[in-house]
Amino acid sequence: MGKIIGWIDDRFPLMKMWNEHLAEYYAPKNFNFWYYFGSLALLVLVIQIVSGIFLAMHYKPDAELAFASVEYIMRDVPYGWLIRYIHSTGATAFFVVVYLHMLRGLMYGSYKKPRELIWLFGMFIYLCLMAEAFMGYLLPWGQMSYWGAQVIISLFGAIPVIGDDLTLWIRGDFVISDATLNRFYSLHIVALPLVLIFLVIAHILALHEVGSNNPDGVEIKKNKDANGIPLDGIPFHPYYTVKDIVGVAVFLFFFATVMFYFPDGGGYLLEHANFVASDPLKTPEHIVPVWYFTPFYAILRAVPDKLLGVGAMGAAIILLFFMPWIDRCKVKSIRYRSIIYKINLGVFIVSFVVLGWLAMQHVTTTITLLSQLFSILYFGFFIVLYITSKNEQTKPVPDRVTE
Ligand code: HEM
Repeated sequence: MGKIIGWIDDRFPLMKMWNEHLAEYYAPKNFNFWYYFGSLALLVLVIQIVSGIFLAMHYKPDAELAFASVEYIMRDVPYGWLIRYIHSTGATAFFVVVYLHMLRGLMYGSYKKPRELIWLFGMFIYLCLMAEAFMGYLLPWGQMSYWGAQVIISLFGAIPVIGDDLTLWIRGDFVISDATLNRFYSLHIVALPLVLIFLVIAHILALHEVGSNNPDGVEIKKNKDANGIPLDGIPFHPYYTVKDIVGVAVFLFFFATVMFYFPDGGGYLLEHANFVASDPLKTPEHIVPVWYFTPFYAILRAVPDKLLGVGAMGAAIILLFFMPWIDRCKVKSIRYRSIIYKINLGVFIVSFVVLGWLAMQHVTTTITLLSQLFSILYFGFFIVLYITSKNEQTKPVPDRVTE
């Protein structure tokens, strides 16, 4: 074994990379539950790529054949149902894991100096993931695929001057058609996964350049021993590789439960209308995006003007990019921050969840009013944070990690 590794090492930096990123990558020793989700996101990425490759072997990106090819996968392809449910459950799992991963970043101020780029790469990953999920949802060519895409693409029409041309360009036709399906397919299976993989590599390289943050928000590189090893650090391998395997086992338990017993999640993960082939002449009664888009959809619906609605929805996402500069407090972790910050973040999380629920309800005056109220609370988070974080009353931060 040693000889083989030596042979490879003379020609390729195998051990150098292994040491740099695993065996000699020192991570803070106080990682908690919230630090599982990065490695889980990596796992889901692999699950999606592998199951996607197998789906692509049987799927037909043709408006005449797409719906039937998915039915064929479900009924005739050996274990086709399993492959499809792995991929559809994987889409939901991806967003669950990524939302929790982002929440950890917000709680522990992981976006702050020197980790701004890790956060920015993360936000680009998030955008890319949304595009990936949106385009993937068109492929089964069911009623929701068709009409969901119709609603979302038509939003671009609200943009002054170029709106109409832009929607035409995106669709490749005057209506959602075979041309749209074909381009979404190629973007979904080739272009966006490539961008996603590139961004994830950049995300992790940036992380390994500056080192991980931790629940105390203490920079472990400030306290090193005589050999230059952080006193509060432990090698990622074997300590965190083993710990992450525990996370993977628990995650797979939940994943398998949903996949085998609730693959459609009661209509929330695979919408009921999508088991009906698309019909351009019949609009479904209630068009709602899948759960992971609903908070932003609620913000869109809350604003009466279409252009302003699209602007508000865009702003709700764009603002997150600027977190490193909106939050001006020097203290990173929520543990040592003021009660105002804690309440503010709490209200933000509640507003995000409630907005997600509101978007799934039929529009009534009350639902619209509530959507407006919670949209204000959502945006209020950023405003309150910007104003209060500069001179925040924080608690003393310890020199070393506390656990
Ligand atoms: C495919 C999606 C993603 C993958 C595979 C991924 C992967 C990872 C991994 C493996 C880590 C190190 C382990 C950990 O800290 O949990 C990490 C850290 C981090 N990620 Fe992600 N990530 C993804 C998406 C995102 C997104 C959407 C954001 C935020 C916008 C984000 C922000 C961060 C931050 C700030 C850190 C540093 C955390 C710290 O040191 O406290 N990531 N990511």
